[in-house]
Amino acid sequence: MQVRHYLQFKDFTREEYDYLFGRARWIKDQFKRYIPHMPLHDRTLAMIFEKHSTRTRVSFEAGMLQMGGTVINLTSRDTQLSRGEPIEDVARVITRMVDVVMIRTYEQTIIEKFSEYSRVPVINGLTNEYHPCQILADILTYIEHRGSIQGKTVAWIGDSNNVCNTWLQAAEVLDFNVHVSTPPGYEVEPERAGLFSHAHYEEFPDPMDAAKGADLITTDVWTSMGQEAENEKRKKAFADWCVDADMMRAAQKDALFMHCLPAHRGEEVTAEVIDGPHSVVWDEAENRLHAQKALLEFLLMPRNQEAETSRKLF
Ligand code: CP
Ligand code: NVA
Repeated sequence: MQVRHYLQFKDFTREEYDYLFGRARWIKDQFKRYIPHMPLHDRTLAMIFEKHSTRTRVSFEAGMLQMGGTVINLTSRDTQLSRGEPIEDVARVITRMVDVVMIRTYEQTIIEKFSEYSRVPVINGLTNEYHPCQILADILTYIEHRGSIQGKTVAWIGDSNNVCNTWLQAAEVLDFNVHVSTPPGYEVEPERAGLFSHAHYEEFPDPMDAAKGADLITTDVWTSMGQEAENEKRKKAFADWCVDADMMRAAQKDALFMHCLPAHRGEEVTAEVIDGPHSVVWDEAENRLHAQKALLEFLLMPRNQEAETSRKLF
């Protein structure tokens, strides 16, 4: 059987996402009721972090342990990667010893190369280009609060970064719209974002116009990991791309606010918004755990038959 990887959002179909969201909600429900669900008791996850992390590290490690599995946490510094061992060789060796690998790294080409030589599923835990696990959790959060995201409008305010690119891919797969507003010079690069067409997003020079009528407003830091040298320049360029109460008022009355975190209050979002009534950022962060448990199960186990028949309940 061909090994499935999760390197970008468009690696799965809409039907597979329906299954995953249903399964994530079931796994979350079991967890909340302290009912053990340990299908991965003989499985090992290796995580390789080349960048910092709080949520990704904790959610994958806790999730794997809760499902009965084992986790090995590696950084490039601990391994021979930092001494020049080729990524192909590292992939060939590690994936003879573990059942699944999660990688947080720089260029998407690194994770693609690793997966090419991997015997087991590889999960993208964030690259410069994409962050699929984040949007998996974000859409689960949207569904829990508001139902299906199909046909809805998401406003992305700020940098056209890895998280933005993944929202844009998700819009194509799950059939919703994204209003993007970035400062000049930081616009979406459709090829880098891995888009099929321009059909599911529209660009707005003024962030207030992007926010108008949106069902969800979301943003992210102005300076992503790896871009630290550009910080001062970006602070100037992005000064007007701050999600504030006026912007939330331009959206639908019941619009949600999301942020993948970590956030910089006073930069891309005001404290009033992120700590206010529209914000679901803590549910969103928690859902990394439940969504990724469903993802690990999906990649490592046959589909659950009972869930196949009951997923319409969600
Ligand atoms: N949102 C997210 O991926 O957080 P971490 O960088 O803390 O993992
Ligand atoms: N765009 C951010 C996301 C962090 C979770 C970064 O890449 O640093």
